[in-house]
Order: sequence, then structure tokens, then C-alpha cells
Amino acid sequence: MYLLIPAAGSGRRMGSDRNKLLLPLLGDPILAWTLKAAVAARSIHWIGIIGQPHDWQEFKAIATRLDIIKLVHFIPGGSTRQESVYNGLKALPAIADRVLIHDGARCLATPDLFDRCAEALQVHAGLIAAIPVKDTIKVVDPGSQLILDTPDRRQLWAAQTPQGFHVDDLKACHAEGQRNGWDVTDDAALFEQCGRAVKIVMGEDTNLKVTTPVDLAIAELILTQRRSQG
Ligand code: CTP
Ligand code: MG
Repeated sequence: MYLLIPAAGSGRRMGSDRNKLLLPLLGDPILAWTLKAAVAARSIHWIGIIGQPHDWQEFKAIATRLDIIKLVHFIPGGSTRQESVYNGLKALPAIADRVLIHDGARCLATPDLFDRCAEALQVHAGLIAAIPVKDTIKVVDPGSQLILDTPDRRQLWAAQTPQGFHVDDLKACHAEGQRNGWDVTDDAALFEQCGRAVKIVMGEDTNLKVTTPVDLAIAELILTQRRSQG
């Protein structure tokens, strides 16, 4: 299975002066944890890291330290996640027919989750890891700050990555999105806008996206616990 890792962001919400994926988490950069899980997943044989060229030197050092340099390809990122993924899709080898996409910032995803998504991709042309939401979610009017609606929680799932697709289908959806100016935060949204089915694969409670400093503290706690459990 081919895997693309969008890692070309700036980490604005982390409040850091550099790409948050280079911040240390228990002694290793965040991206190193993501890569370790991807490398340990039996189904993955090709990894494309999508990054801004100014970060490549450090990305390459991480890959070298993990001794996986042969597997890894570096692809230039865009100014949005959507653009970065599209660059990644265009950089896949011509024989790649299916692809998993996994945010570099989701550094706690387990190898098992990658493998379950890869397996489900043999059956479905579009899928995402997701978990049922635990909170009651409100739809709020941005102006008045008054609640407009309380959707039935049983129908609400929180989207994660990996997300997996047939390459030609997702490329077509990205092209369509670019033509129409669609602005989305994940690839499933493009697939949905094109009227294509997207299947849910049960995600992981611990598969958080490191976005703010508190997420980094929680990630450290989870990894420490995993370590102590061997
Ligand atoms: N990403 C990317 N290219 C971009 C923007 C984001 O590849 N132009 C990647 C990030 O590196 C991250 C993933 O998409 O792994 C999810 O994005 P997010 O968590 O929003 O990361 P950032 O965009 O870096 O953070 P922020 O939005 O707070 O600036
Ligand atoms: Mg972002």
C-alpha cells in the first residue's frame, strides 16, 4: 500500500515558530512517531512525506535515524493541506492504484489502524478512520452565538486519518475541487462533494491530532503509558 503523509503545515495553533511536526515528543520529533507507526504497519511499502522544502533537511535526518531512507520519498507541499495532498497524489508512481493518506500530526495512530484501513480499501473505493463523538455537538450561529440545532449524537462521528481512496477517483475529485474552488479540511469531503461513497473504519480514541500545546501534553502521557505497558 502507498501512504502519503501531509507534513507541510506551519503549526500556527501550536504557537510555535516552526513546523510543529519537528517539536520533540518524548525525545523524538512528532513526525518520527508517525513514521515509526507507518513503518511498522505490514501493509505499507511506500511512504511519501509531503513537506515544505525548508523542512526537508530535518525530515531526511529523521528518516535516516529511523533507518528507512529507502522507503521514503519527499514531495513539495502546497499552501493548504488540500494542495499538499494533491501534490502528493500527482507524485505517486503510475502503478499506484490505492493510497492511504495520514496526517503527520496524528502521531499516535497504531500500525494496526493502518493495516485495517489498507484491508478495507480492498473492498471500498473511499474510507476514513473515525470514532463516535462523545460530546453533544451544537450548531451555532456565528453572529449571534445562539444555538441553531443539536444534531442527534448517534449519527455523529469524528473524522480521523488514515483516509484511503482509489487514486484515480481521488485525483478526479481534487481536480473538480480545484475547478470549483472547494475548500475542505479532509479528502473524504472532496469525495463526498463528488457524490461518492465513503465508508467508516473504526478509528482509535488515542488517535488525536496534535494541534495545540495541550494535545502535545496528552500525547506524551499516552506514549509514556504505552512504554510502561511494554
Ligand atoms: N498540512 C500540509 N500542508 C499544509 C497545511 C497542513 O501538509 N499546507 C498538514 C500538516 O502538516 C498536518 C496535517 O496537514 O500534518 C493536518 O493539518 P493541521 O493539524 O492543521 O496542521 P498545521 O496546518 O500545521 O497547523 P495549523 O492549522 O494550526 O497551522
Ligand atoms: Mg492547518
